[in-house]
Amino acid sequence: MQITATATSLLDWQGTTLALGIEEKAELTGEIKQLDEKLSGAISELIADEKFEGKPATSVSTRLSGNSSFRKLILVGLGKLADLSTDDYRNSAAAIAKLAKKDASLGINLPIEGDKVAITQAITEGIHLSLHQDNRFKSEVKEDQKSQLETVELLGLAGQEAAIAKAETIVSGVLLARELVNAPANELTPITMAETAQSIAQEYGLEIKILEQAECENFKQGMGSYLGVARASDIPPKFIHLTYKPQGTAKRKIAIVGKSLTFDSGGLNLKTGGSGIETMKMDMGGGAATLGAAKAIAQLKPDVEVHFICAATENMISGKAMRPGDILKASNGKTIEVNNTDAEGRLTLADALVYAESLEVEAIVDLATLTGACIVALGNDIAGMWSNNENLAQELKNAAQAAGEKFWQLPMEEKYFEGLKSQIADMKNTGPRAGGSITAALFLKQFINDTPWAHLDVAGPVWADKPDGTHNGGATGFAVTTLVNWILT
Ligand code: BES
Ligand code: MG
Ligand code: ZN
Repeated sequence: MQITATATSLLDWQGTTLALGIEEKAELTGEIKQLDEKLSGAISELIADEKFEGKPATSVSTRLSGNSSFRKLILVGLGKLADLSTDDYRNSAAAIAKLAKKDASLGINLPIEGDKVAITQAITEGIHLSLHQDNRFKSEVKEDQKSQLETVELLGLAGQEAAIAKAETIVSGVLLARELVNAPANELTPITMAETAQSIAQEYGLEIKILEQAECENFKQGMGSYLGVARASDIPPKFIHLTYKPQGTAKRKIAIVGKSLTFDSGGLNLKTGGSGIETMKMDMGGGAATLGAAKAIAQLKPDVEVHFICAATENMISGKAMRPGDILKASNGKTIEVNNTDAEGRLTLADALVYAESLEVEAIVDLATLTGACIVALGNDIAGMWSNNENLAQELKNAAQAAGEKFWQLPMEEKYFEGLKSQIADMKNTGPRAGGSITAALFLKQFINDTPWAHLDVAGPVWADKPDGTHNGGATGFAVTTLVNWILT
């Protein structure tokens, strides 16, 4: 499907379906009014018949008589134009694309108020993302379930070709993240995740290093924390390190670290049915976003050096499994009493963060489906954010805002580290139930010295049970766009 920007006037547009953005309770004016006249009042009739008020997230549509230059008319409500955010454009475009997906060609006409580049980008993202359906694991897909859209024309956005292309590159990263998360744990293993990273490296010319178990044992004091988690799996751990280096001198050097549990059974603190074990293939959502961002960044080529790190493994059970009470030693020498084997993400991230900091980067961002507690606190649509550096937190908030992805900063409440004190080791891996996502962040902080660092708990938003906004349920590809925006700032 191809998206183009066109200078064609609303009155001259020809195709299958035309979608118009309608302001709340506004009179039809300008070209829309002229089009209404040309269509013998079809637009005002539709508005009256359906009592359509133009409220946000509402839409109506109708078929037109044979002699008009298009066959279907869609009206989407935009609310008050003054309140319209970039993300509203993204969601309106997504809603339109879903309504027109059985049609061959679509023209979209939205009133453009604000930054044309950002709006074009958001609209393009909304269209592509909302039409994506992951059918890789179905033996048969009925024709009528697939999108039939061949062309989408953005009216009034002529000249914005670069913004469309940029959005499409970011979308390629978001869709990779979705496909990685959707893939079941028998398909997407640490081995195949490493192979995916290899193919990104090959296709786009990134440097890649996969540290095998022996190399992980030899890194500094040994990645005992990460390898403790990996112990019960029959599949070897793969510590993935992709590097993007710009042609000239880099203005900044940063690292992104994604939790990459291709499956989290809980380990000996086994998860029970109904506890979410059924969807724990998504526990590499942070790593998937990391690889998705790598794919986009490799194509966008900013003047920033970026290290993408995924300590991939599974959290399984076997006679070799780490036991509750075991003490692990991370590569920075810190010892951890594992009082809960299901708090495994932080154990893998501990060594990944030490590794990231050893690269002498100026900032580290980790993303992890880390705690159910973060979902309890913020629900499914909002990710948690913690940082030791307010500048970095603000940069990420700005990037997220432009991406239409929601993050909420929570406190790094040092006092709560009390809950992680161990009688026998430097710390335990879990504290009390209360403030569970905060103690998880405080645990991670033990593995960062003084590099500006942010931790993003994405446990809620990487997965959706139902279609909504720009996705159709399942993996959402959350955080890729925020990461890319951040790297580009
Ligand atoms: N992967 C889970 C967190 C999670 C839960 C992600 C639900 C997505 C949806 C993580 O490894 C985990 O099991 N966390 C435990 C921590 C607890 C043992 C302190 C949790 O949240 O229950
Ligand atoms: Mg767990
Ligand atoms: Zn987990």
